[in-house]
Amino acid sequence: THNVTIAIDGPASSGKSTVARRIADDLGLIYVDTGAMYRALTFEALRKNVNIKDENALLKLLENTEISLKKRNMAQSVYLNDEDVTEDIRQNNVTNTVSIVAAHPLVREEMVTRQKKLAENNGVVMDGRDIGTVVLPDSDVKIFLVASVMERAERRHKENRSKGIYSDLEQLKKDIAERDYKDSTRDTSPLKQAEDAVRIDTTKLSIEEVVEKIKSLISTKL
Ligand code: C5P
Repeated sequence: THNVTIAIDGPASSGKSTVARRIADDLGLIYVDTGAMYRALTFEALRKNVNIKDENALLKLLENTEISLKKRNMAQSVYLNDEDVTEDIRQNNVTNTVSIVAAHPLVREEMVTRQKKLAENNGVVMDGRDIGTVVLPDSDVKIFLVASVMERAERRHKENRSKGIYSDLEQLKKDIAERDYKDSTRDTSPLKQAEDAVRIDTTKLSIEEVVEKIKSLISTKL
């Protein structure tokens, strides 16, 4: 028998994690946030003063670091070895440098190995940038979520404000556009829609509508 695998890719802040988490929960699958893995490594490197341009140093750090994702109610906690870094990895300094870390081929190779392993014995909904193209090319369903930069910046802005976090809409727009640029122009597995992925533009859709759309796609394919 085979495990169900759902791949959800797309640019920064396109709603991937919210939607992926909901679908995993509804279908009883495990949610894997691969961006959190790159973020955790970035956080650890920054904290340990490891040069994020030094691929070999990063790889060595990664090889000595266990990154685990644990389910916590609807959300997911991220652990570096035994330390809960769920909040830390969302800091701006991590968000604005993670694309540099994620561009190193050897770092990606190790991350992809770990991600494939997570899907070996479980049905998963995995979100990221290269899930449908590289990590799980045989996924049952592949989704590519997009939304305008303006819409994504506004969603993030609202989210920040609701959490009482300082937020600058213009800066968010710039940061999102820059991360998209870096993620889609790198040499190794850039952000790109898989040929067999279904593209969904979420600009004018609610979370509920996106979740329903994907669930009905899944039901036609399984
Ligand atoms: O999904 P999230 O925005 O948290 O991802 C953070 C960063 O990690 C992305 O901007 C990208 O540079 C990197 N990433 C990646 N491949 C993945 C997931 C994330 O390169 N599968």
